[in-house]
Formats: sequence, C-alpha cells, structure tokens
Amino acid sequence: MSISTNSGEIKYAKGLEGVIAAISGISFIDGDQGILVYRGFSIETLAKHSNFEEVIFLLINGQLPTKIQLGEFSNKLKQYRQIEFLMPTLKSFPVDAHPMDVVRTAVSLMGIYCPDKSDFSKSIKQQKVLRVVAKLPTIVAAYDRIRKGLDPIKPDNSLNHAENFLYMLTGERPDSLSAKIMDILFVLHADHGMNASTFSSMVTISTLSDIYSSITAAVGTLKGPLHGGANERVLKMLGEIKSPDNVEAWIDEALEERRKIMGFGHRVYKAYDPRAKILKKYAKKLGDKKSDHLLFEIGEKVEAYMLSKVGDKGIQPNVDFYSGIVLNHLDIATDIFTPIFAISRSAGWGAHVLEYLESNRLFRPRAIYNGPYHQEYIELEKREGE
Ligand code: SDX
Repeated sequence: MSISTNSGEIKYAKGLEGVIAAISGISFIDGDQGILVYRGFSIETLAKHSNFEEVIFLLINGQLPTKIQLGEFSNKLKQYRQIEFLMPTLKSFPVDAHPMDVVRTAVSLMGIYCPDKSDFSKSIKQQKVLRVVAKLPTIVAAYDRIRKGLDPIKPDNSLNHAENFLYMLTGERPDSLSAKIMDILFVLHADHGMNASTFSSMVTISTLSDIYSSITAAVGTLKGPLHGGANERVLKMLGEIKSPDNVEAWIDEALEERRKIMGFGHRVYKAYDPRAKILKKYAKKLGDKKSDHLLFEIGEKVEAYMLSKVGDKGIQPNVDFYSGIVLNHLDIATDIFTPIFAISRSAGWGAHVLEYLESNRLFRPRAIYNGPYHQEYIELEKREGE
C-alpha cells in the first residue's frame, strides 16, 4: 500500500518496520548477527571492562572519559541525586500506584521544578538530562520504601550509581557481586538505537518541546509489555509454569492460543540478543550463589523449547528473558523491574535527544486515508436511528 504525492510515491510500513528514522552515531545493532555496539565499543567489552557512569558519558559525549573527566562527571551525577523537592508528592501517591506511573509522573514534575526551565542552551540541556539520569534511582527507591511504610533513604555519595541504588532500596550496602551485576544491568540496558521509547523521546523533542517532556513520553512508552514491561511478565510466566516438567505443555498451549511468549522475539534481532547471553551467565551465577536453581532451570528449558519450536523464525531470547531472573535473585520486587530499565535507558534517551537536536527536523509521517469521501451533511433532527 502506498500514496502518490508530487514528491513521489510513499509506501506504508506498519509499525514503521524497516523504516530508517534517523542517522545516529550512538549505537549500532546487527540483528542477524546479534551484535550491539555503543559508540564503537561492543556491549561485551563494555559489560566486562566499563561501568554505568562511564557508559553514560560515552553515550552522551561520544568518547570514553579521561580519569579527570570521569571524576568530575560522577561528582556531577552525585550532586543531582537529591529529590527533596519531590518527596511530598511521592508521599501523596496511593501505595498501589505502579512504580512506572510514579517514574513517569516524577519526571514530569521535574520539568515543573526545573531551576533553569527557560534556558535552552546546549550545556543546560545536557544538565537536564543528567538530572533525570541521576534522580531516577532515588525516585524509584524512595517510592518503593514509602509504599511499604518505610522512610526513604538519602543517597550515599560514597557509593557509585548501581551500589547507591541498591543501598537506597534496602538500607544495606550491597555485596560486591550484587553491585557489579546491577552495574552490568545498567550498562546493558543503557541504549538500543531506535527502540520505541527512544523514538518516542525523539518525536517529542523534534517539536522543540523540553527535555523533561521528551523523557516523560519515553517512560510512558517503555512501560508497555511489548517493550520494557516484558521482564516483569517473564517472571510471572516462569512462576505460572512452576517446574521444568511443565514447560512444553505450557508453551504449546500459549503458542496454540497465539499468545506472545514474553522475553522472546524482537523487531530487529533475529539472532540471540547479545545482552541476553550476558545476563544468562549472571542469572546462573546468582542462582548458584543462592543455591536457588529453579527459575533458571525453567528458563533454560523454555529457551531450549522455544528455540526448537520457533527459533528458525528468528524468535529468540531478548534482553528481558534473563533480566527478570537476575533481578529476582537480587531480591528486587517484580514491579520495579521496568523502572530499573528506565533508570538505565534514561542515558540513551538523553543521548539521542541531545544528538537529534543537533540537526533537528520535525517527525511528521503520513497516513493512508481509508475513510469515506463526499459525505452529505444531514441535520440532526433528520438523522434516523436512536
Ligand atoms: C525490548 O526495539 C528494541 O530495541 C526493544 C528493546 C530495547 O532494548 O529497547 O530491545 C527492549 O523491548 C525487547 C522486547 C521485549 N518484548 C517482549 O519480549 C514481548 C514479546 N515479544 C513480542 O511481542 C515481539 O517479539 C516484539 C513486539 C518484541 C516484536 O514483534 P514484531 O517485530 O512486531 O513482530 P510481530 O509481533 O509482527 O511477530 C512476527 C511473528 C508473528 O507470527 P505470525 O503472525 O507471522 O505467524 O512472530 C511471532 C508473531 O506471532 N512472534 C511471537 C513472539 N514474537 C513474535 N510468537 C510468540 N512469542 C513471541 N514472543
């Protein structure tokens, strides 16, 4: 299907599948080979040698920081962690609010309280991005404690981003393995090209709206179960399956009913998601450490059976499949999984929004009209029917 215009024919692409929406130097994905690269560095290299603070700097600035730059950048992020101005509102939310709704609302509130909201200079725009990236862990941890009737815990600036997030959730300094794995989770989820939530942030900024509006839009987009909300549902699925012995019958029934198996499939990856490969290793490592293997055993059986059934159709494990098991082993509540995805992806959203503004153009696709033409207007009194 297409429409003809004076500037030529425009073809319809449902869900913009196969459409190039931007030119970007931030991340490269080879969906057939299962490759993900941030600014020229493979995700495997960054997961092994880097950390989230370095990756935020890399995504936004395009190169790894020097020692001095990283020190200054990390201190800047620590300065921005505070959310005292948001506390009264966080405490006013119902305790059964979904944490992703809290995150979306909190980012929107940041736009209201922003001290330099009318400053649209490039450097201040970057500060606005860093404020969101720095504050999200504090917001998520504070609300998780408030809803349990506990006092929020102030950030500890002697800890890095990942350590501090786990500390603010529990009040305990995390062990080194948990902190390392949380940092790797942040690195792996930080960016992923033109995914729906990043694209959403770019559509918003392309109207020259503000940083906070663009990230609010991204949070709302990430929440969906077809995108960032999948990891919460993977864990629910594994819980419903209960035992490796039940996997084949459960998957057969779900596929029979044409239900999507959460944590599998991807618009771009038709090979194994490289992030899932790394997370699978840590899901096993944490299970071994806790002598709690059931979830991983069910997960491995689901993976093997799904690959045997639909692997050749390019439906393979994606980042969400093992991230849920890892987070569960870190004793994180399942409805906090997607907020953790948002904490990390806020770096990618910010990097893409800042990059796109360098050569902005309003996103405005077309639609093929399939409605009627030349309708006759009938006065209300003469219209038939109820
Ligand atoms: C993320 O885009 C990104 O980069 C996202 C992300 C990122 O880092 O930002 O990588 C993060 O969102 C990962 C994906 C998390 N979502 C899920 O795990 C939800 C389950 N997955 C599916 O809903 C699906 O695979 C999508 C939405 C991820 C991609 O779907 P597409 O490209 O729109 O493909 P489709 O739905 O049109 O499916 C094509 C075929 C269909 O079968 P047919 O109708 O052709 O017979 O594949 C089937 C689908 O039924 N299929 C699945 C399936 N995914 C696709 N069948 C069963 N289970 C699945 N998971």
